[in-house]
Amino acid sequence: MCLATVALCQSLNAANADTDKEMNKFVDKLMSKMTLQEKIGQLNLPPGEDIVTGDPQSSNLGALVAAGKAGGTFNIKGAEKIKALQKLAVEKTRLGIPLLFGMDVIHGYETVFPIPIGLAATWDMEAIERAARISAKEASAAGICWTYSPMVDIARDPRWGRMAEGAGEDPYLGAAVSRAFVKGYQGKNLENNDEIMACVKHYALYGAAEGGRDYNTADMSRQYMYNYYFPPYKAAVEAGVGSIMSSFNTVDGVPATANKWLLTDVLRNQWGFDGFVVTDYDAINEMQKHGVAKPDKASVLALNAGTDMDMASHAFIDNLEKALNEGKISMEQIDNAVRRILMAKYRLGLFKNPYKYIDPQREKTEIYTESNRNEARKIAAESFVLLKNEGNVLPLKKEGKIALVGPMGNSSSNMPGTWSVAAVPSKYKTLLQGLKDAVGDKAEVTYTKGSNFYDDPVQDLAAASWNKALRDDRGEEALIAEALEAAKDADVIVAAMGEGSQSSGESASRGDLSLPDTQKKLLEAMLSTGKPVVMINFSGRATVMDWESKHVPAILNVWFGGSETGDAVADVIFGDVNPSGKLTVTLPRHNGQIPIHYNHLPTGRPASPGWNGFQVFRSNYVDMDPAPLYPFGYGLSYTNFKYSDFRISSTKMSPDGHITATVTVTNTGDRAGDEIVQFYINDPEASMSRPVKELKHFERISLKPGESRDVSFDITTDALKFYNYNLEHVAEPGEFRVMAGPDSERLSTLSFILKE
Ligand code: BGC
Repeated sequence: MCLATVALCQSLNAANADTDKEMNKFVDKLMSKMTLQEKIGQLNLPPGEDIVTGDPQSSNLGALVAAGKAGGTFNIKGAEKIKALQKLAVEKTRLGIPLLFGMDVIHGYETVFPIPIGLAATWDMEAIERAARISAKEASAAGICWTYSPMVDIARDPRWGRMAEGAGEDPYLGAAVSRAFVKGYQGKNLENNDEIMACVKHYALYGAAEGGRDYNTADMSRQYMYNYYFPPYKAAVEAGVGSIMSSFNTVDGVPATANKWLLTDVLRNQWGFDGFVVTDYDAINEMQKHGVAKPDKASVLALNAGTDMDMASHAFIDNLEKALNEGKISMEQIDNAVRRILMAKYRLGLFKNPYKYIDPQREKTEIYTESNRNEARKIAAESFVLLKNEGNVLPLKKEGKIALVGPMGNSSSNMPGTWSVAAVPSKYKTLLQGLKDAVGDKAEVTYTKGSNFYDDPVQDLAAASWNKALRDDRGEEALIAEALEAAKDADVIVAAMGEGSQSSGESASRGDLSLPDTQKKLLEAMLSTGKPVVMINFSGRATVMDWESKHVPAILNVWFGGSETGDAVADVIFGDVNPSGKLTVTLPRHNGQIPIHYNHLPTGRPASPGWNGFQVFRSNYVDMDPAPLYPFGYGLSYTNFKYSDFRISSTKMSPDGHITATVTVTNTGDRAGDEIVQFYINDPEASMSRPVKELKHFERISLKPGESRDVSFDITTDALKFYNYNLEHVAEPGEFRVMAGPDSERLSTLSFILKE
């Protein structure tokens, strides 16, 4: 470090110490004036639901706030409403402590970015940080100072609908995404009025719900937790995340909200987290249904474990005073929780100006702006993954007749995807409009629906927000006949299908991840015309597309691209943008392979690669190919990239040294394109079985036609370490393998030795 940097760090540290001192003084003084009831009030986080439409002052929530019985609230949209509530807190309560206003700003506010699994598929951490920054700017312009994001739960089972909200199956990528989100939301230091506090969730293991069924049990070894599930939460803590949300599930049989090992030993003592812990919605009450405790005892368990704020259970406020009087909890524990919440308010600058984030003028001018939308459009196009492009069907020419079919073709409400609390779908383009705008008068675009999401009306309505207007009741045959008629003289068919926006997300577990029958019938009918068909697959998870990958010439996986999806899909399918997204989840061939992930442990009886039928006494299936359909890290481009000359600087590395692995990547096609170059590590002889490969480095590069670039991975022991049987973070001397390539399967491998 240069002297100037050292001096700067010293002065920053000194400044931080000064600020901390000031904050502690302020909080101490405030707490010395607070009654027990006022303290417990700060630990209560009632939902904002009852005033979404009503008058804040006369709502139940308004009454709670005026009585000093709320530390904050959440999911209220609109600066006026938020201001009215803040005014109640500041002017009507004895000490005038301001409220925190939270919201699930998961992938944007009114400018909606791709759902997080799509954002992760960009592998572009700067883009994710920018998306979070814009989300923070827009949300803060409407009074929000706290977002319940990032959701970083590792998910290996796509039946779990909340895979949509996370970064996928990989801990290394998941940690990078986690850091990017936190940096984007919190900015430099929460000083500005457009930097908001992040809340990493759902701590912990929520993505490992058994059977992919939401809210279900998660159970695994501590080694699995530390090596594969914890890294993204830890990364958020290291990035300075202000708060953390505990998960609904049990960890080692104890609900996360009451799990002291999780919330105190690991989070605070091992990782040094100094923010506050909020429960998930109603989680303290749910402990009764978990078979652990009724709300009175559950409140005690939660506080003892390290929970600071109670979301929506109303359990702390009803029970903590009595628990204190009975000696079940101590004043010190209540004080610790209150202190952490007041510190967060202080750091957000709310004591200096409770209205810091509430500015009706900013709300009018800074939300859904052209520049925010342009950014969202660019990032959405970056998130799409081209899975197949036989005969270069894509990109399409802007000419002739394009027949758009499918339930996603003409719906704006389905564009944003799950958890878009502040979205205004009426402002968003449909895919049909996007395509029409892109071709202007150079080509004709027709639309016929061809099918609903599901033939069954209940399933269909559930898939798309219970919006009856979206359903066409004419029946399968009539819909397909109409689409066939429209496709008759088309040059190309674009089939926009897959999941409705509510088929993934919370409480949207699915047991069958293939395309619903009614949509498949439409696809078959379109293929029967003999015309080129492009499938645009909307999905919030890894879907099963074995049949489609065999029969449809071009497949573009677009997740849910957010408010600008219509334009972004047009950008990619007409070739104005070259696709570059890559999968962050493995796509299975069959439902029966699930859960599936690339970084699995080797078995003692591995099956030989390739599927020539069942291999007896090997780890495979009697009746199906166990290999993924499309592997983790996979994605095509309109150009081609060649990997060559993979090399390492030395075949021996000392524990405090480093070696460099380098691969040359060349754009051998005739278009400029971005490539995501991936490096993996394998530890073939360790004290515990280690994954067959683990992502340890990646880089997104842009190459012009004919251009080559060397991409390097600087290997230090950091990339070789793992949590061993005793949970020590170690790099064990011996052989290692390093691999490089365009995805987790097409890899070149070299070996080196880590010396003692
Ligand atoms: C979800 C959380 C969310 C919370 C508040 C819960 O149902 O699990 O992810 O932040 O609601 O809306």
